Amino acid sequence: MLVSAKEMLKKAKKERYAVGQFNINNLEWTKAILLTAEENKSPVILGVSEGAGKYMGGYNTVVGMVNGLIRDLNITVPVALHLDHGSYEGVLKVIEAGFSSVMFDGSHYPIEENIEKTKEIIRIASEKGISVEAEVGSIGGEEDGVVGAGELADPSECKAIAELGVTMLAAGIGNIHGKYPANWKGLSFETLEAIKDATGDMPLVLHGGTGIPEDMIKRAISLGVAKINVNTECQLAFAAATRKYIESEKDLEGKGFDPRKLLAPGFEAIKATVKEKMELFGSINKA
Ligand code: G3H
Ligand code: ZN
Repeated sequence: MLVSAKEMLKKAKKERYAVGQFNINNLEWTKAILLTAEENKSPVILGVSEGAGKYMGGYNTVVGMVNGLIRDLNITVPVALHLDHGSYEGVLKVIEAGFSSVMFDGSHYPIEENIEKTKEIIRIASEKGISVEAEVGSIGGEEDGVVGAGELADPSECKAIAELGVTMLAAGIGNIHGKYPANWKGLSFETLEAIKDATGDMPLVLHGGTGIPEDMIKRAISLGVAKINVNTECQLAFAAATRKYIESEKDLEGKGFDPRKLLAPGFEAIKATVKEKMELFGSINKA
């Protein structure tokens, strides 16, 4: 059964580890992430961007696939199905379809409007026990059409949004979606510390989890980050493993062209990436 992200993040913040949000794109992605979570007894959050939801056929398809896999694969660890960087309309649609968690990304609105819209989303979601993530400041780079300037979050704005009763808060702290450029300055721990002081027990969310050095991840967790989003890294691992399979011409041997064989190396690569992240985030055996 799908659960809200509330309890898993409360526990993570208290015990100082982070739960990974891994974005899904299809059946292979979803199955690989769920099996890895189960094998490692880790809670997990499946992230779905609006673009990926559309790609998979629509939100009802996503909910049907995830619920079916949880049942058929006997997944017992806590799983939240979460809308990633959702618009106001997108949030309403996924709530209707049966998601257990949403992110309303109002970071591109003036703060007053972000507050008003987030407040309304909390009202609708909390009636159904659905967790809500909000964003302040912005994440640099681009993810699935969502472009951000990489603006550092203002701690007093974070406090105002946290006090609305969100479950978790994403803040821009120098993090970027996609690969980090060679001249990246790193995370702003000064900003993170100020946000932590301003928001108390609020579980903080670190977007752009691909390629952040291990020591920065650990420091971020020690400063209140309880959810870390990873997307690009699974895509890179899947693409590299699939390319290797094709270039070795294994698809030409026997029934190597069978999609179940062709997609297997990518599937295994996602599993290995997710396991590595769960180890780094400290979520193994926390389910
Ligand atoms: O919302 C999802 C993420 O922030 C993922 O970022 O693609 O850089 O890992 P990433
Ligand atoms: Zn993100």
